[in-house]
Amino acid sequence: MQNIIITGGTGYIGSHTAVALQESGFKVVVFDNLSNSTTDSLYGIERITGTRPEFVQIDCTDLSALRDAFSRHSDAVGVIHFAALKAVGESVQRPLLYYRNNLVGLMNVLLCMTEFEIPSIVFSSSATVYGVPETLPVTEDTPLQPATSPYGQTKVIGETIVRDCVAANPKMRATLLRYFNPIGAHPSGFIGENPSGIPNNLMPYITQTAAGIRPILRVFGNDYDTPDGFCIRDYIDVNDLAAAHVAALNNMLSGTDGVSTFNLGTGRGYSVMELIDAFRDATGVSVPYEIVARRDGDVPAIWADATSAAKVLNWRAKVPLSNTLQSAWRWQINSGEKKS
Ligand code: NAD
Ligand code: UD1
Repeated sequence: MQNIIITGGTGYIGSHTAVALQESGFKVVVFDNLSNSTTDSLYGIERITGTRPEFVQIDCTDLSALRDAFSRHSDAVGVIHFAALKAVGESVQRPLLYYRNNLVGLMNVLLCMTEFEIPSIVFSSSATVYGVPETLPVTEDTPLQPATSPYGQTKVIGETIVRDCVAANPKMRATLLRYFNPIGAHPSGFIGENPSGIPNNLMPYITQTAAGIRPILRVFGNDYDTPDGFCIRDYIDVNDLAAAHVAALNNMLSGTDGVSTFNLGTGRGYSVMELIDAFRDATGVSVPYEIVARRDGDVPAIWADATSAAKVLNWRAKVPLSNTLQSAWRWQINSGEKKS
């Protein structure tokens, strides 16, 4: 059985990817400092797959501890590096925390991979690297724009660091995955997104408002140059996203060299209002909302051209939006039950 190290593996996308990897026959080792997650997700993964991944509590910015952990898992054939802080607003307030955590962490992982000769890395990037795109949908060749936040910069710079390391080391290969807007939860309801405090992102705000935890959803702006005036995003089911990581890893393990970059989205954009309506249709629950001013830094519209992932990885988003919204709602209800 091939071993894979997942940094940030107790988090939202990491835990779903751990499930997908285990279901595809890989053995998973999770490295996480639990700064934005708990070990509850390991229990959820075990309930779904029957196997609890090995867990190492570790901070990727601590090089000596990381080296020690890698030395004990030097038989791994690849690393999926999710570990990062991701709150855009906080990154504006605390840029050094974000640059240090996200970039020092990445550099330490790459250093350990080089030392222990682990050849393949998947790096979690983001559609944020496209900024406000001039043409839609965006392909991987759409020019990148200067990032609007330190968080976004860590993705632009992170991609560059990975590319430079692969260019310098012919034994290393990498896949940069640019996620659009991941939403939903595992259909079992055993794992999902666990935002701490008030959510910044739309989907957890919708489910928390639907559950009565938040009184009202504030919709940021209805005067955009889009068909209904609301911002448009490409909402991708987290289980589809997880499957793409397995495909990316298999692509590298089967010998694809160099750096590959893929957009991971559905190829279809939904406006904020369309998503609110789709949530009501899928769950029968109406979410109270009010329209307020635009949020600073919001991109009016972005959705993916994901044909490259389809061609090269044979991966496509499959889960219908209604199922995704139902899984998000199921997870919200389950996590509410756990807290009470
Ligand atoms: P998450 O916060 O749920 O998971 C990230 C995990 O990394 C957490 O468990 C956290 O405890 C851990 N972590 C953070 N810093 C660490 C460090 N220094 N050492 C060890 N562990 C550390 O976030 P997520 O939504 O699962 O995101 C995973 C990755 O995908 C991140 O790199 C994020 O930037 C990227 N991404 C997420 C989205 C999104 O909307 N969720 C969109 C685009 C890109
Ligand atoms: C945001 C980040 C992006 C990051 C991504 C994942 C910004 C500007 N962008 O993307 O860098 O990669 O999260 O973490 O923060 N909305 C509301 N009300 C809400 C919340 C959101 O109307 O309470 C709207 C937003 O205006 C946007 C859409 O919903 O139009 C999606 O927002 P969000 O889920 O925060 O994702 P992004 O802004 O796409």
